[in-house]
Amino acid sequence: MRYDESNRTFDCEPTLTDSQVLQFCKDGFLLLEGVVPNDTNERSCEWLDGKRQANPTFVPEGMEQADLDRIRATHEPSTIMLEDWFIRDVLLNEQLGGALRSLLGRNVGLPVLVSYHPTECPGDAQGWHYDADHVIGPEVNYLEVFYFPQETPVELGPTEVIAGSHLRPISADGSQAGLPLAGPAGTLGIHMQSIIHRKGPSTATGVRRMLKYNYWRTSAPQRDWKVEPDFDFEQAQYGGHGVARYVAHMMYWLCGRGDEFRIVGGQAWPWRSANQIGTSYGYDASSGYLPNWRRPTHDDYAS
Ligand SMILES: [Fe+2]
Repeated sequence: MRYDESNRTFDCEPTLTDSQVLQFCKDGFLLLEGVVPNDTNERSCEWLDGKRQANPTFVPEGMEQADLDRIRATHEPSTIMLEDWFIRDVLLNEQLGGALRSLLGRNVGLPVLVSYHPTECPGDAQGWHYDADHVIGPEVNYLEVFYFPQETPVELGPTEVIAGSHLRPISADGSQAGLPLAGPAGTLGIHMQSIIHRKGPSTATGVRRMLKYNYWRTSAPQRDWKVEPDFDFEQAQYGGHGVARYVAHMMYWLCGRGDEFRIVGGQAWPWRSANQIGTSYGYDASSGYLPNWRRPTHDDYAS
């Protein structure tokens, strides 16, 4: 892990394989359970509860102590990112770093803003929603990470997501079940900022703490994660009707080939059936359509 303090970026070896990057394109999230050490989880809870004095490693340019005090008291206590233990074990967490390096390229930009979501439990589920200013598209220019500094079982209402909802806007009512991103203390989740989510219903008693922040791409996308020598873009499983085209486009964008991506539609690549007796037509088409991420037309293709 190489940390560039002056630019607030990090670089390290990527850890995800082609298959894992493709799976992320399909799901839109990745869960790393219990990866932050317990003493840091405890420090985080104490700091968030106001029981631990701030000890910033540096004061950001143009700021004074009064600014740091003001920020700490808001629902966006970003000054926790100035604590050396938080930088080392949470922001620059090794498992997290390898995954982010795989998806965001070299020299990943560290977050500048933290959102803090403490919740009194028990409580009802939040409504399903997309966060403000989300973009649904093939680009992965930033990723949102959440951190549970305490054990967060289903009973404590962890964040729930609907897999694949970053590919096409969906609407979900309260009865729709989600996938709870539960885990032991020190669980980190990575998700597309454009995935539909909610705070889950909780039955336990206590306070659920959760921090959320975004990491940023600073270099152009390319296929520089862990390449699988036998990964076959033509034969890969991208998903079913209405989905495969978006997943494949996102994968191509991550490989730095988003501009070349074209599909001819129908039963052609990237769609395929297990019952075919031959390879799908249309792979590597030089002309054709892009998936219509904006969806103004009924056939869902854009030139
Ligand atoms: Fe939200």
